[in-house]
Amino acid sequence: MTIRTSNRIAGIPHYEPGLTMAEVMAAYSLDSVVKLASNESPFPPLPEVEAVIANASAHLNRYPDGAARDLRAAIADRHAVDVDQVAVGNGSCELIVHAGEALLEPGTTIIYAEPSFAMYPHLAAAAGADALAVPLAADGGHDLPAMAAAVDERTRLAIICNPNNPTGVYRSADQIEAFLDAVPDDLAVLVDEAYYDFVDEPDRGRVSVLARTRPNLLVTRTFSKAYGLCGLRIGYGVGSQSWVRALDAVRQPFNTNELAQVAALESLRHPAAIQQRVDEAIAERCRVADALTKLAVPFTPSHGNFILMEPPGNGMDADALHEDLLRRGIIVRNGSALGCPGTLRVTIGAPAENDAFLSALGAVVPV
Ligand SMILES: Cc1ncc(COP(=O)(O)O)c(C=O)c1O
Repeated sequence: MTIRTSNRIAGIPHYEPGLTMAEVMAAYSLDSVVKLASNESPFPPLPEVEAVIANASAHLNRYPDGAARDLRAAIADRHAVDVDQVAVGNGSCELIVHAGEALLEPGTTIIYAEPSFAMYPHLAAAAGADALAVPLAADGGHDLPAMAAAVDERTRLAIICNPNNPTGVYRSADQIEAFLDAVPDDLAVLVDEAYYDFVDEPDRGRVSVLARTRPNLLVTRTFSKAYGLCGLRIGYGVGSQSWVRALDAVRQPFNTNELAQVAALESLRHPAAIQQRVDEAIAERCRVADALTKLAVPFTPSHGNFILMEPPGNGMDADALHEDLLRRGIIVRNGSALGCPGTLRVTIGAPAENDAFLSALGAVVPV
């Protein structure tokens, strides 16, 4: 006997997280592994952040501030917006799910790029709405003109992932602005900037400035990547009041926990220390990219904390390369799980982790 479920859930794609370190160690009889599969930070939270988490843990018998007022105020201050232009979520993922709940219903459509972040197809299926997945342009970035052309009167939500996961390709603020100009002012547009911190382009951050005044724009960011807090689950969105009201309408009363709120708030007080970590990640990304070039491994130039690569052109297959790396204790993401069969996505880790990856890759890739 099984429970009776809604017809919608049959269509919801299951999000398959990567293998855990323990699973790989057990499967390959390894004492240690290097995990470069989930675009995590190699750095633990800042020491000051660890201290506030420890202090706050003494008060966990109390509910958190359901409105996350202090955190919202700090984010509003940083983005020069009103507090009612900030939404806070249990990871930015929750805000993306909330967007689907608030905006989609049967008969409506969501537009996003493909391949992109695996959560987006979930939104349409969960709401019984239709999904319009627009293929990426040849460079691995969003085909924004094609996405704008696909918008019609049924479209309720367009998501742009910038830089795109899993390709790492960045679209400029001018290109995003041209998309916004091309679509109706009342079409909700969500720009998912989970990897914003790792962008090294002069216009980085300008889309969030547009979100101060554009009536239909929400930019989401996360403390999971550059801030090293993915285990706590906290992210935010900055945008129009109507966007934030819609997201708040569907959230549970205490959607972000106390430890996550204080950790995020404290993290915002140390921008120089976070930037130093980001600079190191960008330098390592360049070093890994140079090494891939030397090994004749094709890859897509990335603005994220990861690189999408292909096996070299000697007939080597991506599944076999993935397996060879696992056997050597290196966990990367198989592109077939990300809608990019024939590729592997490697997260940029600490220098020693990247060295371990490059040395394992050098051992299995014929020169
Ligand atoms: C493009 C993109 N958006 C959002 C997220 C979700 O981040 P979080 O929920 O940890 O804030 C991720 C996580 O990897 C991602 O790759």
